[in-house]
Amino acid sequence: IPQGEELVKAILELKKEKNAVILAHYYQPGEIQDIADYLGDSLQLARAAKDTDADMIAFCGVHFMAEAAKILNPTKKVVLPDLLAGCSLADGCSGEGLREMREKHPNALIATYINCNAETKAESDIIVTSSNAETIINALPKDKPIIFAPDKNLGKYLEKKTGRNMILWNGSCIVHEAFSMERIAKQMAENPDAKLIAHPESETAVLDLAHFIGSTSALLNYVENDDCQKFIVATEEGILHEMKKRAPEKELIPALVYDESCNCSECFFMKRNTLEKLYLCMKYELPEITMEEELRVKALKPIEAMLELSK
Ligand code: 13P
Ligand code: SF4
Repeated sequence: IPQGEELVKAILELKKEKNAVILAHYYQPGEIQDIADYLGDSLQLARAAKDTDADMIAFCGVHFMAEAAKILNPTKKVVLPDLLAGCSLADGCSGEGLREMREKHPNALIATYINCNAETKAESDIIVTSSNAETIINALPKDKPIIFAPDKNLGKYLEKKTGRNMILWNGSCIVHEAFSMERIAKQMAENPDAKLIAHPESETAVLDLAHFIGSTSALLNYVENDDCQKFIVATEEGILHEMKKRAPEKELIPALVYDESCNCSECFFMKRNTLEKLYLCMKYELPEITMEEELRVKALKPIEAMLELSK
């Protein structure tokens, strides 16, 4: 495997040779973000995957995101640097689990966070992402109960924002649950001129302290456009790479986690991807995301319902 600048050059050559596009999430290692054609949050990446006319999508993110790209654009080859780049939310909610929920609450609509696998999507009525969840929940018929899966923290946040009680699946993001309300409160006391910004996957106690809550792209826009010069950032540390680029004059402090030996929260799954693995997956076109057409069509329906409502 080439190294250093040669590796970057080799990836760019493969991109041209294979007519590939590199999509990357804001939590990816900085060197992957730097080489990407398109950087975005889950919704933006899903849209980019749907709209691309490249022959191959090299998806630098976690498995459920690459799977969503395949669902939306089945004729393209979708490769992912590391097949084991999972997600605690996706791993904790199966299609079978949702089917059981539906049996218990036959009248309910199932709104599912995009952080789930294709089988789970296929059992859902509509998908949401952190950037459109509030709009979508508000748009659902008021006379039906809503089952919200799998993130209970995002679910509780949405209940507060929309005033709708939902039946919540008991899942969570291990990365955002690692933030310590006590340690963050101390950081805020030590930095009274800073604003706390948080991703809605964080626990309620952290969200209650936050000056602003939003998806990764919303957090980036907020830091870039707000007058404040200092931010305590409660989301995965990879976002700081793009945040520093967009607001180089601002001070960014990673929010502290329970574990006192760590000074930020990292998504172990997102960080499985490396430039070397990106090179290999583009060269050998493996690992590739594949799925049965019947499942893809079932999983596409609730994603299309989401895209229609979040135009
Ligand atoms: P965004 O859609 O806000 O980018 O969130 C994705 C995610 O996995 C957050 O942990
Ligand atoms: Fe999943 Fe959390 Fe990692 Fe996002 S940060 S991919 S929700 S484990």
